[in-house]
Amino acid sequence: MELSAAEFDRWYAERVESPAADELVRRVLGLPPGLQSTSLLSGAALDEVVAELALREGQVLLDLACGRGGYGLEIARRSGARVVGVDFSAVAIEQAHRRARELGLAERAGFRVGELTGTGLGAASVDAVLVVDSLQFAEPKPAALRECRRVLRPGGRVVVTCWEALDAADERLPPRMREMDLARQLPSAGFVDVEVTDKPAWRAAEKALWEAALSLDAGGDPAMQSVQEEARRILPAFGGSRRVLATATAPR
Ligand SMILES: C[S@@+](CC[C@H](N)C(=O)[O-])C[C@H]1O[C@@H](n2cnc3c(N)ncnc32)[C@H](O)[C@@H]1O
Repeated sequence: MELSAAEFDRWYAERVESPAADELVRRVLGLPPGLQSTSLLSGAALDEVVAELALREGQVLLDLACGRGGYGLEIARRSGARVVGVDFSAVAIEQAHRRARELGLAERAGFRVGELTGTGLGAASVDAVLVVDSLQFAEPKPAALRECRRVLRPGGRVVVTCWEALDAADERLPPRMREMDLARQLPSAGFVDVEVTDKPAWRAAEKALWEAALSLDAGGDPAMQSVQEEARRILPAFGGSRRVLATATAPR
């Protein structure tokens, strides 16, 4: 079952009402203060992603399925790059605009409503693409990877953080995760220098977050309740998937 933009809109609207959920995620994942994440990428993992992107001042990063823009804005702050964020949730995009202004990064940050498979950006218009914990939502997935390649300049880098099933027939896992196979899908989309790496330490940080969420009293906080529901859904099949970092280059 795919999640619609309206469902994500509701999720983001709840989240803005819940500093507690953001605080939990920031503390357990070790994120820099002020980074608004709606994924499971830890602070240590972000450092690796920044190194892989190797952005220089003035270059352009597309943060695809950017949510509230947290990771892209942090990378822009560290590297001096510009960030363009695209997400199909208009509520998330509005929150990303606000966050960019609060962080004094509005001049180097633009956010727009768009699809994983159709960003609305020009061909060869960005230096790097980052997709944090979102590619599994694309329908179809190869179309999203082709869109990444289309918007990248020749030689530009794509960095994807995601999950893959250890066994594609494991019905405990959602079909969207069982369809992920980046070592095959990135070359099919025309990328070269493809590397897909297992990240057990990232996985451990994720598990710590789910366990910490379940140890708390959510009270009447809908965002905390929704983090707990996700934890209850994910933990029983946790051993059935792996956390991956995928990197690749658009051919010159
Ligand atoms: C798990 S969140 C990750 C958000 C952000 N990358 C982060 O790490 O904080 C997944 C994001 O994918 C977006 N998304 C899901 N399906 C999408 C689609 N078809 N096109 C664009 N964005 C989509 C959702 O709105 C949501 O913001």
